[in-house]
Amino acid sequence: MQAEEIERLIKISKERPLMPETYVPWHEMPAADDLYLPEVLTSLQGLPVYDTLTQQQKTDLGRHEVVQVLYSYGWGEAMFCVFMSKFILELPPDSPEHRFLIREIIEEYRHQEMFAQTITLLQGQPLKQTPMHRFSGHVSTKYLPADYLFMGSLSVELITDMYGNYSRRAPEIYNVLRKVFELHNIEEGRHIHFTKGLLERYTAKAGYIKKTLYSFVILMNIYFVRTMYVRKEIYERIGVPNPDAVYKDAAKNFRDKFTQNCLGLIIEFVDSWGGFNTATRWAWRLLLKAKV
Ligand SMILES: [Fe+2]
Ligand SMILES: [Fe+2]
Repeated sequence: MQAEEIERLIKISKERPLMPETYVPWHEMPAADDLYLPEVLTSLQGLPVYDTLTQQQKTDLGRHEVVQVLYSYGWGEAMFCVFMSKFILELPPDSPEHRFLIREIIEEYRHQEMFAQTITLLQGQPLKQTPMHRFSGHVSTKYLPADYLFMGSLSVELITDMYGNYSRRAPEIYNVLRKVFELHNIEEGRHIHFTKGLLERYTAKAGYIKKTLYSFVILMNIYFVRTMYVRKEIYERIGVPNPDAVYKDAAKNFRDKFTQNCLGLIIEFVDSWGGFNTATRWAWRLLLKAKV
């Protein structure tokens, strides 16, 4: 990416900052029929059990699941900020990359605060990550080289973007959440643009092995995002009978829906630099049921 292009992104970030304090109408209460997550993104819609739920149970399902989404974003962004803070130490402070990353860190911390405030407003009780999620998150933040971490972050940002698009276009969504997603979407659009530019440098010179590893890093990141919010405890909370069996069906149901609704941009991106090959295709098919 050219220096002028990065300068342009820095300028927008400085001149048109989106402050959660004023951008989100925090005082607005949800209307009686508002939803918290588009039905298509909930884990149970599409299963017979969904049709047996009362309207209140459906609304609560969306509320608990969106809390998981916000909590997971916040957690992922917090880890990425740790990485970026270390990464910029190596860059000349007057370089466009350094200055853009400072803007990104500032924005990511605002996002995390916004997500936390939203969770409180929704009276959410986020379920902690599983030990496996926590372990992988910490290990990769600490030990993976920069290009792999940018790959991972970009894949999560692309998923976030997709969620944001669904939520801000759905008229039935609680307005506070719509504005939260809208703000996030606009700023993440710039991060995605920057990161894609940065990664072009890495992918251009990557050989077969490097591309294979990049592809796996992205796959694992997406797999982790996907598995972070289908949780048995949520079905217990909303009073679904037989939560164990429902959880099993939901995990499969959500995997299929996620593949259908959320993978498009990721597949396009990985394909653009040749990340699908005989060493990676089988894993994408197995874990995400992706048609690659
Ligand atoms: Fe963010
Ligand atoms: Fe971001």
